[in-house]
Amino acid sequence: MIERPAEIFGGIDTSVPNAARVYDYLLGGAHNFPVDRQFARRTMRMMPNAADVPRVNRSFLRRAVLFMIDNGVRQFLDIGSGIPSVGNVHEIAQEVDPACRVVYVDKEPIAVEYSRILLRGNNRAAAIYGDLRDPDDLLTRPEITHLLDFSEPVGLLTLLVWHFVSDTDDPEGLLARYHSALAPGSYLALSHMTRDGVSRWMNQTMDDALGRIADDTFTRERGRVTEMFAGFELVPPGVVECAAWRPEGPGDFSDAPDFNAVTCAGVGRVL
Ligand SMILES: C[S@@+](CC[C@H](N)C(=O)[O-])C[C@H]1O[C@@H](n2cnc3c(N)ncnc32)[C@H](O)[C@@H]1O
Repeated sequence: MIERPAEIFGGIDTSVPNAARVYDYLLGGAHNFPVDRQFARRTMRMMPNAADVPRVNRSFLRRAVLFMIDNGVRQFLDIGSGIPSVGNVHEIAQEVDPACRVVYVDKEPIAVEYSRILLRGNNRAAAIYGDLRDPDDLLTRPEITHLLDFSEPVGLLTLLVWHFVSDTDDPEGLLARYHSALAPGSYLALSHMTRDGVSRWMNQTMDDALGRIADDTFTRERGRVTEMFAGFELVPPGVVECAAWRPEGPGDFSDAPDFNAVTCAGVGRVL
């Protein structure tokens, strides 16, 4: 675990919990600071199933990537990819076909630095700093266009990242810009924090937890998340609870209904 961050990553504020590092801790990762671990442990005291949220989401990631591979996709752009954990996109995809190419994008320095360490020696995968809210920058970045050919289908992965994008930043407008760059046969996978179907207790506990992290967060209703797929053809079953998107077994679900309800997800195809 990181105990002397300033010596490793100067300039990072380690006095406030950070969403990427808390998420890493909940997944059993070691790339987090004491403040993140304290926050995560406190959250788990309030919500013992809290770690089910990233686990269920990562299971969806795996199923979505494999679905895209089954449908001909061999290149992936994972934006808001997070700190590398178990079951990263390049591991899932290159196990099926070593020719798959993957670019990870995140705005959190630790996520990018550790992704680069993990990807050393892998010339079909890269990790770069970038911002989901700046598609015009990302879609022309040489590190991306060097590996990904946008005249061929691309799997665009944006999992549990849109709740960091405010309405002022126009999520639908940003998605329309990404859509315009994707060739027919490309796919978008998206998962999102939501309040639909969660208990009042869960709502209050989420308010408390989300209010304590450094990042502003914006949960959205499932209907709104469905609208974010405008222009894409939604793959059945549409936007549903994350665990309910083509589950393969009981391990894809949480035992606690609130922790299934709190994320919704879908996959859309570019026609
Ligand atoms: C909850 S993690 C999700 C990680 C991964 N996508 C997954 O589903 O397992 C969200 C990640 O999005 C990143 N992030 C937040 N806002 C972003 C933005 N505007 N552009 C790029 N990355 C962003 C955070 O740094 C964090 O690593």
